[in-house]
Amino acid sequence: MKFLIVANWKCNPKTIKEAQKILKGYKAPKNVELIVCPPLVFIPQLKGNVSFGAQDCFYGEGAFTGEVSPTMLKSVGLRHVIVGHSERRVLFNETDEIANRKMKAILQEKLIPILCVGENREERESNETFEVIKRQIGEGLDGVAKDKVKNIVLAYEPVWAIGTGKFASAEKIQQVKIFIKKLINTKYGAKASEKVKIIYGGSVDSRNIASYLSDAGMDGVLVGGVSLRIKEFNQLLKAVK
Ligand code: 13P
Repeated sequence: MKFLIVANWKCNPKTIKEAQKILKGYKAPKNVELIVCPPLVFIPQLKGNVSFGAQDCFYGEGAFTGEVSPTMLKSVGLRHVIVGHSERRVLFNETDEIANRKMKAILQEKLIPILCVGENREERESNETFEVIKRQIGEGLDGVAKDKVKNIVLAYEPVWAIGTGKFASAEKIQQVKIFIKKLINTKYGAKASEKVKIIYGGSVDSRNIASYLSDAGMDGVLVGGVSLRIKEFNQLLKAVK
């Protein structure tokens, strides 16, 4: 099994030239499935030995100025779509219900949603981590049929760890992984729970990645800032074991 490494470029870099340079510099080893999620507008002019994914999508088509649907993403060859990223939740008021509608629209097209869940700093300090994750997964997967669940990727991204250089211990992350597996097992059964991939995100770099993959047993990672820095990102890829 290959480790799933998702590079989320967010609203970066500024120009297509910079984007081409970053992608050209990537050296993905054989044990990695690398999904790069650049700003959508760059994708037609990017070439590389990677798969591209989307950072978000909308759940409908028609009079929704500025939005892009899963059907459109599929028609240009994209397979993975990030859903419910904390930046969408916090900065753009995305609710669990909206994330759920997006999940269903993505799965309807047989694409792979990467649903992001995770507690913020206050929730962590008041020991609400598991409660938050239970709500986000319960509502995010509400009405999602059993046969669709095997294609889902769940990303545990504690909000307080994103872009801060702070990161959770391997032990804590493993507890969250076990908790998520149990939630899926209860709702969809053991087979589905085995198939669902669980990845970690939040200040992942070449020094801490091993603790998430080998110690916490995650199936991969979601990388923000470091994925824009070629040398550091290649070091991170090299450290995948
Ligand atoms: P950083 O790796 O910059 O903390 O971002 C994580 C993230 O939000 C990936 O989706």
